[in-house]
Amino acid sequence: MDVFEIIHNDHEAVQKILTDLEETTSRAHQKRKEGLAKFTQEIEPHMLAEEEVFYPQIQDAGKDETEVRQHVIEGYDEHRLAKMVLSELQQMDTQDEAWAPKLKVLKDLIEHHIEEEESEIFEGAREVLNQNQIDQVTKQFQQAKDQQMQKGATA
Ligand SMILES: [Fe+2]
Ligand SMILES: [Fe+2]
Repeated sequence: MDVFEIIHNDHEAVQKILTDLEETTSRAHQKRKEGLAKFTQEIEPHMLAEEEVFYPQIQDAGKDETEVRQHVIEGYDEHRLAKMVLSELQQMDTQDEAWAPKLKVLKDLIEHHIEEEESEIFEGAREVLNQNQIDQVTKQFQQAKDQQMQKGATA
């Protein structure tokens, strides 16, 4: 599996969790709590590995102000927004009537981001990275993710 496949599989997993969460009602306190915890466990190491490995290596390989570098900058910003909304959701009572609308905002943000990442960023990355660099990024991406998951598990 290369980094593109790993990222794509992660995306499928988080989208599945969000879809399940969207079907819950305010009575499903436990389901919402557990689902959100699962989502957090999946998305945090994923975003971190993108921010620390995937994105910077694309930026380094791309030339200034080229399209792919612009898309990566946009990607960082979308991560920042997604984390902000996620943290608001984590602090909210699952029975609050605003919970479901906020989940929808988060889901829309994530889905939009995933779509752009898998089209524009993936295409750009394939243009600026050679096979050797893709192999390197794959190894480092997996390492960064594993490390972060271990940290999350002991925290
Ligand atoms: Fe991603
Ligand atoms: Fe991302």
